[in-house]
Amino acid sequence: MTDQTPPVQTFDPAVRTAVVTGASSGIGRATAELLRAHGWQVVAVARRADRLDELAAATGAIPFVADLTEQSEVDDLAALVGQLGRIDALFNIAGGAIGTETVEDAIIDDWVRTYEINTIATVRVTRALLPVLRTTAAEHGWASILTLTSTAGLISYEGGGAYTAAKHAEQAFVETLRLELSGEPIRVIAIAPGLVHTPEFSLNRLHGDQAKADAVYAGVDHPLTAEDVALVNVQTVELPPHINLDLVVVRPVAQSAQHKLHRGPLTPRIEQ
Ligand SMILES: NC(=O)c1ccc[n+]([C@@H]2O[C@H](COP(=O)([O-])OP(=O)(O)OC[C@H]3O[C@@H](n4cnc5c(N)ncnc54)[C@H](OP(=O)(O)O)[C@@H]3O)[C@@H](O)[C@H]2O)c1
Repeated sequence: MTDQTPPVQTFDPAVRTAVVTGASSGIGRATAELLRAHGWQVVAVARRADRLDELAAATGAIPFVADLTEQSEVDDLAALVGQLGRIDALFNIAGGAIGTETVEDAIIDDWVRTYEINTIATVRVTRALLPVLRTTAAEHGWASILTLTSTAGLISYEGGGAYTAAKHAEQAFVETLRLELSGEPIRVIAIAPGLVHTPEFSLNRLHGDQAKADAVYAGVDHPLTAEDVALVNVQTVELPPHINLDLVVVRPVAQSAQHKLHRGPLTPRIEQ
């Protein structure tokens, strides 16, 4: 057990509880905020302690600092959750892309890191928390595992190499897990967004080049926001618990397909 164990008196075992990874920014943070607004208890996980402390102060989420690519830190998270004794929903949201190189110019370390955070970390966390998800399902009827994959997990694109490969693997993890949990009252859900304008995703992918990151979203009329995807995440898990949305593809109206992004205002074509 780490010194991150929250004061147990602030945790109420009668209240539904979620673990949200990637809660320090973007979609994870927005999901943690919305869950708190809906009355859930939230264990908020990421590496940046200052961001989690700010979230905790603003919402009452329980912060837990962990690098999910480190098994010992995932074990510490499992120990905390074991002590709490209840998780109704696990939101696997931590992830991200690194670089836009072609396969010919692939940077192997970037491929490995991308696979580690999007795929292996999701497996590590799910495997570690499954026992408590099961006991929660036994005591309260149901549990849910929601994983934020991507449309990059459904279709490949040039320069997407490491990210599309890792997200395809993460999507395969979701489908495998759903089959393996057959017969148990545990939902296994994939949310696959297209273009989402979050402050850090493209910035990280493009190694901190703000101008290039801004260009990704330039001229797009109403790109999805972190709050939009959080709404889908939370509403999906708040549906009656026997309804399993296996795969939810979420795109802005301006993106008709992965390769068809309209830039410029959305305008009705009205016959004169
Ligand atoms: N934005 C999009 O266009 C888009 C589209 C489809 C899918 N997605 C997926 O949605 C998820 C969230 O993306 P986002 O746009 O919200 O990006 P983001 O703001 O960059 O969020 C990524 C989160 O992952 C956490 N994280 C990264 N590496 C970690 C590690 N080793 N250990 C623990 N936490 C780690 C980060 O926290 P720390 O840095 O504090 O650790 C951060 O909270 C990702 O899985 C992404 O692939 C995004």
